[in-house]
Amino acid sequence: LPSCMGSLKHPVPAASLDPAADRAKVGPMTATAEFIRGLPKAELHLHIEGSLEPEQMFEFGRRNRIDLAFGSVEEVRAAYAFSNLQDFLDIYYQGAGVLRTERDFHDLAMAYFRRVTADGCRHVELFFDPQTHTDRGLPFGVAADGLLAGMAEAKATLGVSSSLVLCFLRHLDEDAAFATLRAAEPWLDRIQGVGLDSSEVGHPPSKFARLFSAARERGLKLVAHAGEEGPPAYVWEALDVLRVDRIDHGNRALEDPALVRRLVADGMTLTVCPLSNLKLCVVDDLKAHPLKRMLDLGLKATLNSDDPAYFGGYLGRNWTETAQALNLPRADLVTLAKNSFTGSFLPPVAVAGHLADIDAYVSSNS
Ligand code: ADE
Ligand code: ZN
Repeated sequence: LPSCMGSLKHPVPAASLDPAADRAKVGPMTATAEFIRGLPKAELHLHIEGSLEPEQMFEFGRRNRIDLAFGSVEEVRAAYAFSNLQDFLDIYYQGAGVLRTERDFHDLAMAYFRRVTADGCRHVELFFDPQTHTDRGLPFGVAADGLLAGMAEAKATLGVSSSLVLCFLRHLDEDAAFATLRAAEPWLDRIQGVGLDSSEVGHPPSKFARLFSAARERGLKLVAHAGEEGPPAYVWEALDVLRVDRIDHGNRALEDPALVRRLVADGMTLTVCPLSNLKLCVVDDLKAHPLKRMLDLGLKATLNSDDPAYFGGYLGRNWTETAQALNLPRADLVTLAKNSFTGSFLPPVAVAGHLADIDAYVSSNS
């Protein structure tokens, strides 16, 4: 199958593991890029396994003595031409196979936090897919403890706050998800919420109705991918059956005006991921991305990277490329930054602090 135009026109660029070197390569920043970098912002839709750079694939593969199916970093990058979500997921689950130890997860998280703090990110709500790892025989705690250690170190050394969201794989059955929730029990005091990801079409939110109600009873926040490839009906189910606190993606909600009215009335946050949408052929040009339309309709959209190592950009690049493609005015950028905190699961006092930081930044930069 040929790739969509989005993938052909936007190959994943080679990124070094040094954000400063990356910036030097693209030359001086434009005024908008500079404004965006200084703007306090949060990332609410980031799969940590999707931050695994090809270089790290080889590094972790080497230290864990795992043979990779690829001969070089360039070969790996060349394989990142996707026609749809499933194409990507096949290679993403394969890549995650190099993650074996707590140290791997710690190092993965720290490398991500170094990159995203260089982009001006102050807070992250980080997804992980425990079933991808427990199904390979790793105990639940290997990923969870490694990530939690990385998160604590990032807070101490980089000043970025974060919380952990456990995502269930929707292509597996609800019993498997329940088994994962039981395995997670000793960690639930350190887990903010649960999510639903992987292959969307054919796996509607209603398949996990009992699971999400059990998670809600445990006091967990609830999010679900919906309307990325799946129809508006899946977004309705996420709202009415799962009773989620946030919708991940939500693009296809725009096909249903009654659903848009509902999302606006609820003040529901959508975690939108433009470079992901481009690479997975949800849109075929960034200029055609619905983010601006969402904002103009009064939807509470946020900007996020999804799987930055696979989709050609971390948080900053999602912001700058989208701002440029859609010609977003500064007022929209400020709204997006504020949405990223008011749509987060941070306590109100922390949200208020970040909003005050945004206001101070805007008044000193206008
Ligand atoms: N897992 C990682 N990234 C995903 C995405 N964009 N959609 C569904 N599942 C995912
Ligand atoms: Zn996602």
